[in-house]
Amino acid sequence: MPTDNRDAILQLTAAGVSVLIDATDGQLPAIVHWGAGLPALTAQQAETLVGASVPVTSSNTVDLPPRPGLLPGHHSGWTGRPGLRGSFDGIGWSPKFRTQTVALSGTPVTASTSSGPGLLEISALDDAERLRLDLTLELLPGGLLRSRAQLTNLCDEKYTVEDLALSFPIPSEATELLDFAGNHNYERIPQRGTLRTGTHLRENRKGRTGADSAYILHAGTPGFGFGHGQVWAVHTAWSGNHQHYAERVFTGEQLLGGGELLLPGEIRLGRGDSYTSPWIYASYGTGLDEVARRFHTHVRSRSPQVPAERPVTLNVWEAVYFGHDEDKLIDLAERAAAIGVERYVLDDGWFGSRRDDTSGLGDWVVSPDVWPTGLHPLADRVHALGMQFGLWFEPEMVNPDSDVARAHPEWIMAARTEWPAESRHQQVLNLGIPEAYEHVKKQILALLAEYRIDYIKWDHNRDLIEAGNQLEAGRPGVHAQTLAFYALLEEIRSLHPELEIESCSSGGARVDLGVLEHTDRVWVSDNIDPHDRQTMLRWTTQLLPPEYMGSHIASGRSHTTGRQHDLAFRAGTAIFGHLGVEWDLAKASPEEISGLRRWIAFYKQERSLLLTGDVVRMDGHDSNALFHGVVSRDRSCAIFAAVALDSLYPDPAGRLKLRGLDPDATYRVEPVFPWTTPSGLLPPEWWGQPAASGRATERTSLRGTTQDDVVFPGATFPGNVLSKVGVASPRIHPDQVVLYRVTKTG
Ligand code: GLA
Repeated sequence: MPTDNRDAILQLTAAGVSVLIDATDGQLPAIVHWGAGLPALTAQQAETLVGASVPVTSSNTVDLPPRPGLLPGHHSGWTGRPGLRGSFDGIGWSPKFRTQTVALSGTPVTASTSSGPGLLEISALDDAERLRLDLTLELLPGGLLRSRAQLTNLCDEKYTVEDLALSFPIPSEATELLDFAGNHNYERIPQRGTLRTGTHLRENRKGRTGADSAYILHAGTPGFGFGHGQVWAVHTAWSGNHQHYAERVFTGEQLLGGGELLLPGEIRLGRGDSYTSPWIYASYGTGLDEVARRFHTHVRSRSPQVPAERPVTLNVWEAVYFGHDEDKLIDLAERAAAIGVERYVLDDGWFGSRRDDTSGLGDWVVSPDVWPTGLHPLADRVHALGMQFGLWFEPEMVNPDSDVARAHPEWIMAARTEWPAESRHQQVLNLGIPEAYEHVKKQILALLAEYRIDYIKWDHNRDLIEAGNQLEAGRPGVHAQTLAFYALLEEIRSLHPELEIESCSSGGARVDLGVLEHTDRVWVSDNIDPHDRQTMLRWTTQLLPPEYMGSHIASGRSHTTGRQHDLAFRAGTAIFGHLGVEWDLAKASPEEISGLRRWIAFYKQERSLLLTGDVVRMDGHDSNALFHGVVSRDRSCAIFAAVALDSLYPDPAGRLKLRGLDPDATYRVEPVFPWTTPSGLLPPEWWGQPAASGRATERTSLRGTTQDDVVFPGATFPGNVLSKVGVASPRIHPDQVVLYRVTKTG
């Protein structure tokens, strides 16, 4: 057992980040510094620094300066948001916690300590000894910080938790905010603003992460970008209702915080009951790329790891929608295998009476109407072709017109006798009811037992509106639903450890580090239009490394936007994620099929770099000229993409400056065209004279539009010249991309 110690100052340092934690005098821990790495401080130096950080009190406030800790307490005079709101029916609403024990990575802390990464555990009691608070603060090896809290009721009266949020201080120079908004088909759209006195609060009541989720809330020095400025960020790792906030109080303190958003009476603790908050992650870095890299390092260290050889996927949704037909879908599998696809996913429409989105959802039994001999002919053919077989589910949802809803109307989530407003003709199945949970689990496991299913696309296509438990007079059930969802994923995974699961929710509405503890990739958006995907991929990588982002090549005309794009732009966009195809290949021209085959071959050749390297996104003055890439961890090679999203002004774009390379090394930079050159190409001089590639061509070259089978030698430059001086851009038409392969030569 940790010994009683209440006078520790702890310094944790990892990967260029330091956290200095004041846990002295029995107070709850407060972060004195979270930011740039510091040299190891002696106990005396740490004490002096903690003293030096105490602000002078403002006039007409409490006499001692309030001390907003990880869980700010009102008792100290803090009049910003308290970390914990709750009461015993109106009593005990301002608890004053006293630290009982402090342990660092399992060892009791007996004196001020400086260490590397570590896990700090603090146990505290409120002064009336009715509540116990266990706080965890962990600095991970990659410099990412995370914290969570557990609150336990120690007495007979019921304690209602209204809100529990954890907060991290940020310095006063962090005045600019960046978080995200979005919608179905337009997920993770950045928005910037100024942090002013008051609270910038992002609340989510959708019962899922949400297409409009704040996602990651950043605060940084004015004008911060991908490669510059100091940036602090928080992310709430939770797939139910949640919150993010940035708060600045009049006296100047600033905090970033996050937590679950609890509905009225949702958490009522009896004696011995506990509430555990989600992890709140906090990432600091120079520029957004470093902030993102800390998230990536963490996700890449999870177990099980996703292999870099991510299988090229074909998802049938945009190819056939609900038009399931065995011959057609086997034909599609054969066409897919022939161009190098390695995983085939059968989407919505294979079960129950699900011939469109009005019926059958929730009945996870193969439909004899469309699959008279079951899925065996298709699954067997897919496997015989050497591909994995994946299947779509939406386990938390039902159509009212389904066998399950007819048999168990009481399993539908509702806050009143009347059911909630329908969305996509569906309601939510209450997995918080054990019988409902078991029913769904049994149906999924039966399919996993009958078929060799390598992959599940786990969908969730509506918000949770008035999501109560009918068996408890409509009490809120989102918290229980979220935990049941995680538990179901874990049960299925523990029985099928080889199974991969994708988190999909009307496209990209369930993307967070909570769901990523139980799933292996996310579907970024239902909008596959590469023009829009450029921005969505750019910002989804703020949290996730490329290998976790489902990134497909669809048909030339986007089903979502109606825009028409060349294959080179669709593919040159999609390869910076986990590549897939979502296209009726029977309708593709022979020329498109050849191009697709080449792009898939290129991806396979480069995926170990594309899916394991460091993501770099260049800051540019023109939001229509994006430049990004992936640099191998050892800096020996990289692939960059220069994207024109519109007619460029000035035309052509400025110099391309390549960040992330070794400044002291020399690199060969070559433009690469796995299929055709981009439309409107006017190459810069440094590319050198084009030569025939020697590849067999299946199309006619047209100068300036579709020259294929040419290679440009490119040129060799020192790394620091590439980052500081840059090289001229070519001229290309809007919605075109040029890829560069960069290879260290010395
Ligand atoms: C959601 C998903 C799509 C597809 C459909 C099926 O919209 O995001 O990819 O699976 O459901 O109904």
